[in-house]
Amino acid sequence: MKTIFSGIQPSGTITLGNYIGAMKQFVDLQHEYNCYFCIVDQHAITVPQDRLVLRRNIKNLAALYIASGIDPTKATLFVQSEVPAHAQAGWMLQCVSYIGELERMTQFKDKSIGKEAVSAGLLTYPPLMAADILLYNTDLVPVGEDQKQHLELTRDLAERFNKKYSEIFTIPDIRIAEVGARIMSLQEPTKKMSKSDPNQKALISLLDDPKQIEKKIKSAVTDSDGIVKFNKQEKPGISNLISIYSILSGKQITEIEGMYEGKGYGVFKAELANVVVEAITPIQEKYFSLVDSKELDDILDEGAAKANSVAIKMLKKMENAMGLGRKRK
Ligand code: AQP
Repeated sequence: MKTIFSGIQPSGTITLGNYIGAMKQFVDLQHEYNCYFCIVDQHAITVPQDRLVLRRNIKNLAALYIASGIDPTKATLFVQSEVPAHAQAGWMLQCVSYIGELERMTQFKDKSIGKEAVSAGLLTYPPLMAADILLYNTDLVPVGEDQKQHLELTRDLAERFNKKYSEIFTIPDIRIAEVGARIMSLQEPTKKMSKSDPNQKALISLLDDPKQIEKKIKSAVTDSDGIVKFNKQEKPGISNLISIYSILSGKQITEIEGMYEGKGYGVFKAELANVVVEAITPIQEKYFSLVDSKELDDILDEGAAKANSVAIKMLKKMENAMGLGRKRK
């Protein structure tokens, strides 16, 4: 069986974007691959976090993984900071990264723009992400489109390490969903939906209640012509809403356009709210039964133990390749 690794940051409650672009893919893939799904809390602290909120978000995310359909008997679910090899391997990969290539990452530019103080961790996030992936001999990384550049860097770092030190890393392939790889903000439809967006109206969180969902969709920015037609360039707002409708309902985009011909945005938005509520209500029910349970802690303990046992082997190979530590007599 080939191996998959992917992670999500507990930097807020996950959005419909994270769910559609990442988690929904994970659920389908877990039956065909040996999967590692990670709560990447060390990535989350590259920007300021409140410690209690972060701890809460870690548990929330773990519960949402399972509530969304990740089966912990099939996939390994764990918290990044509970597997020390990630930070150790991340350091080694920082030492094979160049500052210039890290500064070119668009996520670094986007998140540092206009900020007075930017953490060094925000710059060195991609080598840590590369470590996450490379520690598990990963063949495939399913992600949303925004992570493509980081994945390309991961491949470059793995190739550079293999060439310079020793051929130890598998070069991972990227898997980006054909539809839904980039769900856009409800308020600025040319910008992606992000869980850390300070404007709550811009995102739908997986834990929003039906009233919040209805309100947010109703106030989603569209255009003034009132025609439910998919055209990403000229009608980005309504096209984003049609994509969400299509992915969650399983209906084709042309079918949706036909259903709402001549009906205007009001009717379409009200029915889209129902589609979203229907898709996430069962996830929320499972989530509430799990989030404060001992079962969840047991699953994460087991996941960390399994991930540790695999990651430590690659870490030793990396140390050996680079000449770290001692050769014992
Ligand atoms: N808008 C999106 N549409 C589709 N996929 C998305 N992903 C993120 N946003 C969208 C995918 O979700 C996975 C987890 O992402 P992450 O938590 O590691 O970080 P991110 O990509 O930076 O996501 P956010 O929501 O924007 O987080 P913050 O606000 O903390 O930066 C990835 O596979 C990502 O591609």
